[in-house]
Amino acid sequence: MKYEVNEKGFYGDFGGAFIPELLHHNCEELKEALDKYSDTEEFKNEFDLLLKDYVGRPSPLYYAPNLSKKYNTNILLKREDLNHTGAHKVNNAIGQALLAKRMGKTKIIAETGAGQHGVATATVCALLDLECTVFMGEIDIARQAPNVARMQMLGAKVIPATSGSKTLKDATNEAIRYWINNPETFYIIGSVVGPHPYPAMVTKFQSIISEEIRFQLNEKYGKETPDYVIACVGGGSNAAGAFYHFLDDENVILIAVEAAGLGVESGETAATTIKGTEGIIHGSRTLLMQDKDGQIVEPYSISAGLDYPGVGPLHAHLFKTGRAEFLNATDDEALEAAFLLTKIEGIIPALESSHALAALEKMNFKPQDIVVLNLSGRGDKDLETYMKVSEKYS
Ligand SMILES: Cc1ncc(COP(=O)(O)O)c(C=O)c1O
Repeated sequence: MKYEVNEKGFYGDFGGAFIPELLHHNCEELKEALDKYSDTEEFKNEFDLLLKDYVGRPSPLYYAPNLSKKYNTNILLKREDLNHTGAHKVNNAIGQALLAKRMGKTKIIAETGAGQHGVATATVCALLDLECTVFMGEIDIARQAPNVARMQMLGAKVIPATSGSKTLKDATNEAIRYWINNPETFYIIGSVVGPHPYPAMVTKFQSIISEEIRFQLNEKYGKETPDYVIACVGGGSNAAGAFYHFLDDENVILIAVEAAGLGVESGETAATTIKGTEGIIHGSRTLLMQDKDGQIVEPYSISAGLDYPGVGPLHAHLFKTGRAEFLNATDDEALEAAFLLTKIEGIIPALESSHALAALEKMNFKPQDIVVLNLSGRGDKDLETYMKVSEKYS
């Protein structure tokens, strides 16, 4: 497959495992376990059953009548917001936790930005009796407080990351540092980032999203492919999952939406593919925002889950080859879109997903187009932010 990872963990020029020697064994061990277990009937049955009965899959593919009318086309929302724990993150957390169990691991670590991956990991750890530690930037702890409380109630230890911009990148740095010092732990990475085999593994566990979209479209329209698939990109896991089974259908237009923050040229942005150059972050070669000395440029977005200076290597490859089109939305545009969806469809989206919704304004659809938008999460965690600005947007 043209967009599939190769043996060495590369998507074209991007990916690989650029890690300290001390983590080499962990990544090798993980790769072996992934190869040994993840395609067995026994593993797939357990994964599928949990996705069905615990998460509530398949998530609906909802024809949004009012949004469709507004944009004069056919918009279908893939309702990952309806999953148990409120976002797509749980698909991947379950997959990795099932692997950890089979590897005999009892201690789990994770990083989180918006807190959704932290909550998903804490949830699965409660279910499978695993000890859970979550690293989270201090700023994110403040802006996603409901998710911090949920993680704590679920029995996870939440450790603040206090360096840099005190957001997702810094939480990931802390988690990697801890992993180096505690190699017996299993690190459940929450996006399609990190050293090989993480990007490919997370894509695999999230690919259930596009697998379902195909059969749901077939049920509704008698064909499996839409004209467009739109998803927001932080590290890129919900987009990877929503795109995966369409990558080789070149007639399906893939739209990835990054967070522009205060504006692409404002210096306060997380629009990685536009502002980024090739380099290495968190163990893989990809596009990232860096200065001429290779130091990371601190990202900014109102959305904790998109506030990251890199993208996963698959997305860097999709960008470079032109297979996916990369757009971006500012804080302001995302907030507009969040209030619009709430008002006309009665669905409060996560701030991250609102960036994907904001892209609808920038497109030129035909009335007969079928547009699938991955609604990656629900907005409960963002209510405080929404309430602060509600006068302006409602
Ligand atoms: C609801 C939601 N959507 C999207 C994201 C962005 O992550 P990714 O790009 O890996 O899907 C997050 C991250 O926390 C999230 O919580």
